[in-house]
Amino acid sequence: MNKTNNRTILVAGATGYLGRFVVAELHQRGFKVRAITRNRERAESLGPWGAPSLDGLVDDWAIGEVTNSEFIANVAEGVDDVISTLGVTKQKANPWDIDYKANLSILHSSEKHGVKNFCFVNVIEGNKCPAQLTRAKTAFAQELVSSQISSQIINPPGYFSDMTQILQMARKGRVFLFSPKTIINPIHGADLAKFCIDRLLDGNKGSWNVGGPEVFTWQELAECAFQALGRPVRVATISPAVLPPIIGILRLFNKRMADTMRFVSWSMIHDCVGKSFGTHRLLNFYKDIVKKSDY
Ligand SMILES: NC(=O)c1ccc[n+]([C@@H]2O[C@H](COP(=O)([O-])OP(=O)(O)OC[C@H]3O[C@@H](n4cnc5c(N)ncnc54)[C@H](OP(=O)(O)O)[C@@H]3O)[C@@H](O)[C@H]2O)c1
Repeated sequence: MNKTNNRTILVAGATGYLGRFVVAELHQRGFKVRAITRNRERAESLGPWGAPSLDGLVDDWAIGEVTNSEFIANVAEGVDDVISTLGVTKQKANPWDIDYKANLSILHSSEKHGVKNFCFVNVIEGNKCPAQLTRAKTAFAQELVSSQISSQIINPPGYFSDMTQILQMARKGRVFLFSPKTIINPIHGADLAKFCIDRLLDGNKGSWNVGGPEVFTWQELAECAFQALGRPVRVATISPAVLPPIIGILRLFNKRMADTMRFVSWSMIHDCVGKSFGTHRLLNFYKDIVKKSDY
């Protein structure tokens, strides 16, 4: 494809659910893309939950470990802007090494090489959540705000990819919720990618809370999953009072898992709603998954 735009954009976290949609959208709009990955073969395979393969979408591969300071020092050389969706989700790493330090190293490289805009994907209300994961992200967001670079901090609630956990419980027969009336507007990766790129191209410094076009209670989310499966709704409520002792015990054996549980459960008992954006509907997303798998 002939590039219609000479601007080169570095994408960190390019192999993740959201990062793949970001790369695809940038490519589709005619930008040159430099993508950071630790495994090109995996990057060029299909991503999770409908996220695209990066095969043919990337102009320049930066292959290496984001924790390697030599590799990252000049990763932003020759690029105009950066979008970072880099962060620990299911990976075993410490969020302070990735969400904070590795993003900070990319920021330092960007400052050194005169990058114009740095768009960072954070978490909605992350500054209020006590998990190390969100603390590390909040700490990086603060560094970014104090940088001279024009920064766009995007704060979404859960992605459609994470809402598959509800579909998986529904498939097993019952959805367990901590707080059925709490609300969330989950967002599809393709919609969020568009929003991030639009804000980056506007070039204004700021922070935006953004979610998908539909606001659900967690009860309605569970009902949506059962509807996609064509099964009767079965929901059980667990008191959030059980969380501190469970997280405390889990912490003795696996600190990372305990921290993830703290983050996930926190998000399920606090309203997480950003400004509505996008067109993708959760029921269609669930139905597609059901159609393509052995549900
Ligand atoms: N998922 C949600 O519901 C949600 C909601 C709000 C905010 N967020 C944030 O949005 C960002 C993207 O989320 P996502 O769901 O797209 O996550 P994802 O699919 O796990 O992608 C995360 C990206 O970060 C990279 N990464 C993570 N740990 C790494 C490590 N130790 N070394 C090198 N690279 C590492 C991954 O590389 P590999 O592919 O090589 O592992 C991947 O490219 C994250 O920062 C997440 O915290 C997510």
